[in-house]
Amino acid sequence: MMKPLLERRYRHFLAILLASLLSLPLIKLRTTYSRSPRAPSNYASIIDKCHALKLPVGPPPTFHERPESDRFATGTPPTLIQNATIWTGEHNGTQVIHGDILLDKGMILHVGKIHPDILQLYGAELEISDAQGKWVSPGVVDLHSHLGDDPSPVLSGASDGNSFKGIAQPWLRSIDGINTHDDSYPLSIAGGLTTALILPGSANAIGGQAYVIKLRKTAERSTSAMILEPPYQINSSSPPSDAYVRWRHIKHACGENPSRAYDGTRMDTFWAFRQSYDKASQLKKKQDDYCSKVDAGQIDNLGEFPDDLQWEALVDVLRGRVKVNTHCYEAVDLDAFVRLSNEFKFPVAAFHHATETYLVPDVLKRAYGGPPVSAVFSGFSRYKRESYRFSAYAGKILTENGLKVVMKSDHSAIDSRYLLHEAQQAYYHGLPENVAIASVTSTPADAMGMGHRIGYVKKGWDADLVIWDSHPLALGATPIQVFIDGIAQLEDRAISEKSHKLQRAPKIPNLDEEARKAVEYEGLPPLAVNASSDYVVFKNVKDVLVRSSSGVGVEKVFSAPQLDSEQAEDFEFGVVVIRNGTPVCIGLYESCTSFISDSESDDSEPTIVDLKGGSISPALMHYGSPLGLQHISSEPSTTDGNVLDPLGSNHIPSILGEGALVRAVDGLLYGSRDALLAYRAGVTTAVTVPQHGSLFFGLGTCFSTGALHKLELGALPQAVTALHTAVSFNGVVSVSTQIAALRRLLLHKGENSIEDALHGAIKEVVAGQIPLVVEAGSADIIATLISLKKEAEAIHGNPIRLTIAGAVESHLLARELAEANVGVVVGPIHPFPDSWENRRILPGPPLTKDTTITKLLDHGVTVGISSVGFSIRAPPGNWNAQNLRLYASWAALDSGGKIVEEQAITMASKNLEILLGVSGKDEDADLVATMGSGLLDPSSRVVSIISPRGGKVDLL
Ligand SMILES: *[C@@H]1O[C@H](CO)[C@@H](O)[C@H](O)[C@H]1NC(C)=O
Ligand SMILES: *[C@@H]1O[C@H](CO)[C@@H](O)[C@H](O)[C@H]1NC(C)=O
Ligand SMILES: *[C@@H]1O[C@H](CO)[C@@H](O)[C@H](O)[C@H]1NC(C)=O
Ligand SMILES: *[C@@H]1O[C@H](CO)[C@@H](O)[C@H](O)[C@H]1NC(C)=O
Repeated sequence: MMKPLLERRYRHFLAILLASLLSLPLIKLRTTYSRSPRAPSNYASIIDKCHALKLPVGPPPTFHERPESDRFATGTPPTLIQNATIWTGEHNGTQVIHGDILLDKGMILHVGKIHPDILQLYGAELEISDAQGKWVSPGVVDLHSHLGDDPSPVLSGASDGNSFKGIAQPWLRSIDGINTHDDSYPLSIAGGLTTALILPGSANAIGGQAYVIKLRKTAERSTSAMILEPPYQINSSSPPSDAYVRWRHIKHACGENPSRAYDGTRMDTFWAFRQSYDKASQLKKKQDDYCSKVDAGQIDNLGEFPDDLQWEALVDVLRGRVKVNTHCYEAVDLDAFVRLSNEFKFPVAAFHHATETYLVPDVLKRAYGGPPVSAVFSGFSRYKRESYRFSAYAGKILTENGLKVVMKSDHSAIDSRYLLHEAQQAYYHGLPENVAIASVTSTPADAMGMGHRIGYVKKGWDADLVIWDSHPLALGATPIQVFIDGIAQLEDRAISEKSHKLQRAPKIPNLDEEARKAVEYEGLPPLAVNASSDYVVFKNVKDVLVRSSSGVGVEKVFSAPQLDSEQAEDFEFGVVVIRNGTPVCIGLYESCTSFISDSESDDSEPTIVDLKGGSISPALMHYGSPLGLQHISSEPSTTDGNVLDPLGSNHIPSILGEGALVRAVDGLLYGSRDALLAYRAGVTTAVTVPQHGSLFFGLGTCFSTGALHKLELGALPQAVTALHTAVSFNGVVSVSTQIAALRRLLLHKGENSIEDALHGAIKEVVAGQIPLVVEAGSADIIATLISLKKEAEAIHGNPIRLTIAGAVESHLLARELAEANVGVVVGPIHPFPDSWENRRILPGPPLTKDTTITKLLDHGVTVGISSVGFSIRAPPGNWNAQNLRLYASWAALDSGGKIVEEQAITMASKNLEILLGVSGKDEDADLVATMGSGLLDPSSRVVSIISPRGGKVDLL
C-alpha cells in the first residue's frame, strides 16, 4: 500500500525539481498525480503557489512572435505611415530611419522600406498617412503620473491620490481610483502621451501599488481595459505554470512629504520602511522554507501556504519582481534609501524628483542591483528645501556619469500634455539629443519594464506612435497624429500642418562650465551679477529690436544685411555702442566708428562683446507669481507671507485700521535664486502682488529682478503699480459676496467718502488713474466684471482701466472684452482645466486652430502673457519666470504665423506694463543682448543686460 504512494511522491518531487530547473509546464505532470491521504486538500494549489515563486519576471522570450497585440481592438484599420523621419530608439537613441511604417493588429509590422507585395495584400483597406518627411517617434511615456487619481478638474470629493491611513500601506492600489473620465486624457494624448505609470501620491513611506495605463478610450470604458500587462495579483489569480510573471510597480517616498503627513521625521519614515521590509523578509523566508518542504515532498503537517494580502507586494519586491519607484529628493534621503536597498536586497527602478542625484552619482551606483534611473523635472523647483539645490543641468551631469535620466510630469504638477517640452528643456540645458528624446520614450518604457513593447519604433512593438510637425526637440513641436494600439487618436490632422516649423534640433551652446559650477557649488552657484561696464560695444549684431510708440509696440530698427551667422566675421554684422546704459549708435560698423574710436582723452577702452549673429531686444517682464516675495515658497520663514482675506474668518487686526491696504513693495525680498535666474534669462523686471488666498486687496509693485536690495540704483522702477484683487469659486466665500464687496467699492459715489488706504486706491481706480487687476478664470465671473465696469463708468463718468489676469475662459468673451476695452494677461499660455471654473479651455493645436491668445488678438484685445498661471491645485511657482522668452516664442509658434516676433516680445513686456499699471518710458526700459540668435530662440544665450536706469551694462 505504501510503496506505490512513495513512488508517486518521489516521481512528483522529481518532476517539480526538473520543472523548476527547466521552467517546464507542470500541468500535465500534475494530472497524473493522485493525492496522498495525508497531503492537504489544496495540495495542487500549494504546488502552484510554490512553483509561481520561481517563475521568471518580464516578457517571455517568444513575446515578439505574437500574431497580434493583446490590446488589438477589432476593426482597427491597418495603416501605412509614409515618408517619415523615424526616431526608433535603437542604438542608444541615435538611429534615425527614413521610410515607412506599417501598423496592423495593434502592432508595428514593418519599419523602413516595405515591399509592395506586403502592401498589396491589404488592398483598399489600408489607410495611408503621409508624414511628408516629418519626424515620427514612439508615443511619449510618463513614468510618474497621477492622471485619473487626482482629478482634473479638481473636485474635492473625488481625489484619490493619497491615503492618510498609515505610513506604510503596500496593499493600496492606484488602479482602484483611476477615473476613466478625467479631462486630461484627450489633452495629454494631444501632446503625444500614450502610456503612463499611475503612482499613488507621496504622503506615505509606502504609498501603494502603481499601474501602467494606456490613455486611449477603450470599447469597454473601464479602468481595467486601460491597464497594460495587468499583473496576476490584480485579482489574486495564479499565472499559468509556464508563464513569465508580469512586472508590478510600487510607490515609496522619503523626506518631507511623509514627515508632514504623519507628523514625523525622516527617522520615522525610515523606521517604517525597515519595519515593513523586515516583516516582508520574514514572510518571504516562511514561504521559501515552506516551499522547500513541498519541493522535498515533506507534506506532513504542512499547513497553509504562508501569505498575507497586506504584505505580499513587498515580498514580491524582495523577489525582484516589482519596479520600485521612490520619491526622493536630497542626498540624505537618496543615501538612506540606497542603504535600505542593500540591507534588504531589492533593486530600485527609479528615484523620482531626484533633485540631488546629480550630486551623488556614486551613491546611486551603490544601489542594490544597479543604479536607479533619475526621474526629474526640467525646471520645476525651489518650492521646498528638498528642491532648492535643483540644477537644470542635472540631466547632462547624470548622463556624463553613465546614469539614466527620465523626464516625468507628476501630472498634473506639470501638465503631461507637455511632457515632451520637459525633454526639450533638458536638451536646451545640455542633455544630449539622443538621450533627451529617449528620456520621455524608451528610457521610461524600460524603467517600467515595458520596453519590450513600447518606447521604440520596432517591428513587433505596440503601434504607439506620434507624427510631429517639427523635430521633437524643437520648441513647440506638436503632434500631427497620435496612434495608440494602431488607433488614430486625433480627428483633424490638418490643424498644425499649416505652420512650417523647425525640422532639426536647435543648436545648443556648450554648457560644460555651467554644469561644472552646479556640482562645484552643490546646486547653488553664485547668480549675482559681478561684472558691469558703462561703455560697451556689441559686435556681430544681427537684429536690433526696441520698444516704440508705433506699430505693435516693439519694432526692428536694424537688421544686418548678411543673414548667415556662420559666416559672421569681426564687425561684419551690425554694431551697437552703449554709453552709460543707453545705446548711442546702432548700425553697420562704418556708421558707428566715431562712437567707438574716440579721441576724448579721458575715455577708457570699451568692453567688446561679440554676439556672433545674436540680437538686442527689449527685456521681458514677469507677472503671475510672488517672485520677489519668496525664496522657497513652502517655507514661511523665507517668504513675505500671506495678506489677510477681508472676507475671511481672520479679523484684520485693529492696528491696521479699517480699509487697510498692503503694498507688495514693503515685503520685497531681493536676490532670490528665481529672481536672479529670471534676470539672467532676460526677464529683468517683475510686477508682484502680495501673496494671498482667496479675496484680497493689495497694491502691486514693479522691481528689478537683478538688484540685490531696494536702495540700489534702478532696483525699483515703480513702487506702486495697480490695485489687485481676485474673484474665484473658492468654496469659502460665495462669488456673489465677493462681487458685492467690489460693487460697494466701485459704485460708491459720495461726497464724504471714507479716507483710508483702500478707498484712496479705489478713488484712483474709478478716476481711471490706476488699473484694477482682477485674477479670474471663469467666463461667468469675467462677464460680471465687464458689466460692473460699465456700471461704474456710468456713475463716475470716465473710463476705468480693468485688466483680467489668468483669464482661462476669456476666449469665450473675446468680443465683449474688446468692446469693453478690458485687457487680459493670459497665464499660463497653455490652459489646463485644473478647476471647474477653468474647465472651458481653448486647447490650441492640434485640437483647435485658435488659442486663447489668437482669439483675443483677433478681436483686438490688449494681451499680455505670463509664464505661470493661477491655479487652485498648485500655487503659481517662481521657477518658471526664467522661461518667459520660450513661452513668448511658443505662443507665436502655436499661432500658425499670426503672431510675429515683435508682437510676442510686446506681449511679454510692454503690454504687461500697460495692463498692470507700470508707466515707464520706452527709452528707460532694459534691453537684452543674446548670443548666437534672437531672444526667442532657445539656442541663443543671454549674455548682457543693458540698463538705462542703472546706467550700465551687466555682463553675465
Ligand atoms: C548613449 O549616449 C550618451 C550621450 O550621447 C552617452 O553619454 C552614453 O555613453 C551612451 N551610452 C551607450 C551605452 O552608448
Ligand atoms: C518626403 O517628403 C518630403 C517633404 O515633403 C519630400 O520632399 C520628399 O520628396 C518625400 N519623399 C518621398 C519618397 O515621397
Ligand atoms: C485575473 O487577472 C489576470 C491578469 O490580468 C487575467 O488573465 C485573468 O483572466 C483574471 N481572472 C479573472 C477571474 O478575472
Ligand atoms: C566674478 O567675476 C569674475 C570674473 O569676471 C569671476 O572669475 C568670478 O568667479 C565671479 N565671482 C562670482 C562670485 O561670481
